[in-house]
Amino acid sequence: MQLNYQILIVDDISENIQVVMNILKEMSYDFSFALNGKEALELIKKNHYDLILLDVMMPDLDGFEVCRLIKEDKKLKDIPIIFLTARTDIDSISKAFRNGGNDYISKPFHAEELLARVNTQLQLYTAKLKLEKKNTSLITEITKKENRLSSEIEMNQKEMIAILTELMEVTSDETGQHLKRVAKLSQLLAKNHPSISEEEENIIFHAAPMHDIGKIAIPLDILHSPETLNSEQRTIMKTHTTLANRFLKHSNRKFIKGASIIASQHHEKWDGSGYPQGLAGENIHIFGRIVALADVFDALTHERHYKKAWTIEESINYIKKEKGTHFDPTLVEILINKIDEVSQIIQA
Ligand SMILES: [Fe+2]
Ligand SMILES: [Fe+2]
Repeated sequence: MQLNYQILIVDDISENIQVVMNILKEMSYDFSFALNGKEALELIKKNHYDLILLDVMMPDLDGFEVCRLIKEDKKLKDIPIIFLTARTDIDSISKAFRNGGNDYISKPFHAEELLARVNTQLQLYTAKLKLEKKNTSLITEITKKENRLSSEIEMNQKEMIAILTELMEVTSDETGQHLKRVAKLSQLLAKNHPSISEEEENIIFHAAPMHDIGKIAIPLDILHSPETLNSEQRTIMKTHTTLANRFLKHSNRKFIKGASIIASQHHEKWDGSGYPQGLAGENIHIFGRIVALADVFDALTHERHYKKAWTIEESINYIKKEKGTHFDPTLVEILINKIDEVSQIIQA
């Protein structure tokens, strides 16, 4: 239902207000009036108006000043203002427009002229409000669609990672439990690292289980060999890092990108003696450094076909020895400080 337009008439002579109301009454507008500038400003701040008819010559605050103050106010500036005045000199007219007035009617005026100009301003103002409303709802709709699309892309990536991880469990020597624990340990290290964002923490949690995805392409007799690998077999085994990078490097999606970094850098060592690139220190991506520590710590604390499970204390001692050689010293400190949470993950 369209409500009546609210019109404020500002004039220090009440007879003038009456004349205007008589002309406009056939349009079924709702009227308010003010007899001076100060009163007008108070009303405008309290109520909604669709149009202001403003006299110029008033005691204290004149119409120009009232207009300037309204147009300076972000919330009020769009309300159309028509000056209605006996002044016809060019200076007044130009001052009225300079101060933000939308129209200027000089007295005496014809009833039709006032009606037509009032209608024009009201229609313009209504159209502007409608357009703004439409714009806002369009922007909201677009934002919603964008959010839906990006969460769908995110879900697709997570699903793909889950499928690849399961494939890895079937084909490689890693158990599903190991992959889950590495994800949780990596997340814990990331969460307590001073320069890792919440988003990166989320990426590392989902991408860490993919660290050995390259093993899918390693010949099964090497992958499942009960004997200690000879040097040639070890060289082939090490290619699981570069192979993974070859599968994943073309994606620009954040989870796959994270998985690519982790898979290709989780065997790099802090002192540069790791593989495949021999990167050192902070040249190794933080994702690679984190998963390197989480992966080794979990392997130490669990039984493998070639070794028994070490106690947490034995494993910590080993990690401490490797601090600054194999592992990032900051991450080793985090692991030690959070040993209670680490133990809970390890024992799960
Ligand atoms: Fe590996
Ligand atoms: Fe692993």
